[in-house]
Amino acid sequence: PVGAPDKALAKKVTKVGIIGAGLMASQFALLFVRKLQVPVLITDLDQSRVDKGLAYINDEIDKLEAKGRLDGDAANRLRALIHGTTDKTEYADCDFVIEAVFEEIGVKQQVFAEIEPIIAEDAILATNTSSLSVEEIGAKLAHPERLVGFHFFNPVAVMPLIEIVKTPATKDAALSTAFVVARGLGKNAVLTADAPGFVVNRLLAKVFGEAARALYEGTPLLTVEKAFEPLGLPMKPFQLIDLVGWKVAAHVQDTMANAFPERFYANANFHALAELPQVVEKDKAGRVTGWTKDAQRVLKDAVGS
Ligand code: 3HC
Repeated sequence: PVGAPDKALAKKVTKVGIIGAGLMASQFALLFVRKLQVPVLITDLDQSRVDKGLAYINDEIDKLEAKGRLDGDAANRLRALIHGTTDKTEYADCDFVIEAVFEEIGVKQQVFAEIEPIIAEDAILATNTSSLSVEEIGAKLAHPERLVGFHFFNPVAVMPLIEIVKTPATKDAALSTAFVVARGLGKNAVLTADAPGFVVNRLLAKVFGEAARALYEGTPLLTVEKAFEPLGLPMKPFQLIDLVGWKVAAHVQDTMANAFPERFYANANFHALAELPQVVEKDKAGRVTGWTKDAQRVLKDAVGS
């Protein structure tokens, strides 16, 4: 791939560590274990969060088994490869550690500060930040040369892209490992500049912001969705916002508005929307099937127009 250093420089990954056990982290754990077939460790602040992550992963493995995508033995092998704990010392033998914690610079710096003294000197660190500066996330590391941005998309199992981000400090071994890992996960990787929103969220923030803006201006929600159809994309703006999460979408808006105030809306109303996931109807699998009858009213109240 363009910008990828020689793959001979890549470090062999024999155990993966994931920091966090939320939905994104759990999706990563399942993907890593399925595709790389190596032990995967997940941790979180307390055991109940870890257990919730493990339950999600086991449930997804059950579904794959029920669909006939995995036989019983393969499913059991995957289950056995995933380990959840609150004990961070277990990162000691991980070669590739990716964080999937709250999208805030201080939180990301903090979790890396906690594990850097534990991991091997040549272990690679990756951040799944969606719009923060990777260089800033690595600013407090003793070895920032081992940090790369490794940005997945929702749903992690199916979206084919990973944005890989290099900082001025990132060494070729880390970058090369990231590209080889991405390929092992069956994804296409692109190298992007370490600029707010990288490429995809920069484009998406425009779509989300303009869709919300059209709503405030009085265009009904379903009309905004309908108007998007000719573009032929798999999801319409508000469906996509619901998929990534209303709060995450609002957070991305904020990051972009702070970074480029002249180009993105600082949209307080977006946060009002973020409190309103009840505007969508979902099927049992949690996918959006439509809008509640009173979606328009609820949204109108939220945006105050
Ligand atoms: N988890 C795991 N697998 C899922 C899934 C999920 N949440 N949602 C769908 N899938 C799988 C289904 O199981 C199915 O797999 P199968 O063919 O093996 O049975 C396959 O995806 C297709 O699903 P469906 O047929 O049910 O549904 P669609 O054909 O409508 O596709 C979609 C669903 C893949 C989600 C499609 O609508 C799509 O591509 N949407 C766009 C998503 C997108 O743009 N994501 C990027 C968001 S931005 C982001 O994440 C960045 C962040 O930083 C904010």
